[in-house]
Amino acid sequence: MALIKTEEEIELLRIGGKILARILKDLAEYVKPGISTEDINDYALTLTEKYGVEPVLLGYHPEFADYPYPAALCTSVNDTVQHGVPRADEILEEGDVINLDMTIGYQGMIVDSGITIPVGKTDEQSTKLMNVTREALAIGIKQAKAGNRIGDISHAIEMFVTSHGFSVVEALCGHGVGHAVHEEPQIPNFGRAGTGPLIKVGNVFAIEPIVNVGKKDVIFDDEGDGYSVFSKDGSRSAHFEHTVVVTEKGPEIVTKL
Ligand code: MF3
Ligand code: CO
Ligand code: CO
Repeated sequence: MALIKTEEEIELLRIGGKILARILKDLAEYVKPGISTEDINDYALTLTEKYGVEPVLLGYHPEFADYPYPAALCTSVNDTVQHGVPRADEILEEGDVINLDMTIGYQGMIVDSGITIPVGKTDEQSTKLMNVTREALAIGIKQAKAGNRIGDISHAIEMFVTSHGFSVVEALCGHGVGHAVHEEPQIPNFGRAGTGPLIKVGNVFAIEPIVNVGKKDVIFDDEGDGYSVFSKDGSRSAHFEHTVVVTEKGPEIVTKL
């Protein structure tokens, strides 16, 4: 699978990216206290049909899991750091924070994006967590230009997050994307500038800082659903993700309206 995408493939990523941004916006407007994470998944499936895209996470079997993923998106609430599986008995409450992370296919090309949003109104610390994580993504994306190295993205994200007193989760990372849900290279959210693979025009990356209020340590729910990842100290976590194409002119975010 080519890590350099063609102009035709990039054009499809642009269209798919806009649709994913639209879906996440629709889902964000739907989130409110009293609904379940399964309700969000049901609505996400309705939206994929409405917009004519493939819910590629449904049935996707990542290396780390024992069984294929059973939903169209991951819904990670509060101290669930990533890969929360939507459930009928998980009811959102006022003040929660929820990460919606979705990957879709459009005419064979795959885009990946995520947002963390409050349920109703949340507290000041959670608001700061979301703001810092959103900005860390923007700062990482700026480094995604030809001639830089992956470590430049990683380092910029880590420095920004730690300067605000939060911690970067090291057990999960960003990745190449486009032909598959996960492609080479891995894009850690910590590391040394000037290290790692060289970034080239035509690369497509899913950049996704994952940030905890407390310590970086996480627990994998192997005895539970086999997907959910929790913060070890129970602190809240946030994640923002965009699919980014490296162009001659610099990084281009495709998963935005
Ligand atoms: N969208 C997720 C990511 O950013 C993919 C999760 S894989 C799943 O990499 F199987 F957990 F859904
Ligand atoms: Co994602
Ligand atoms: Co991703």
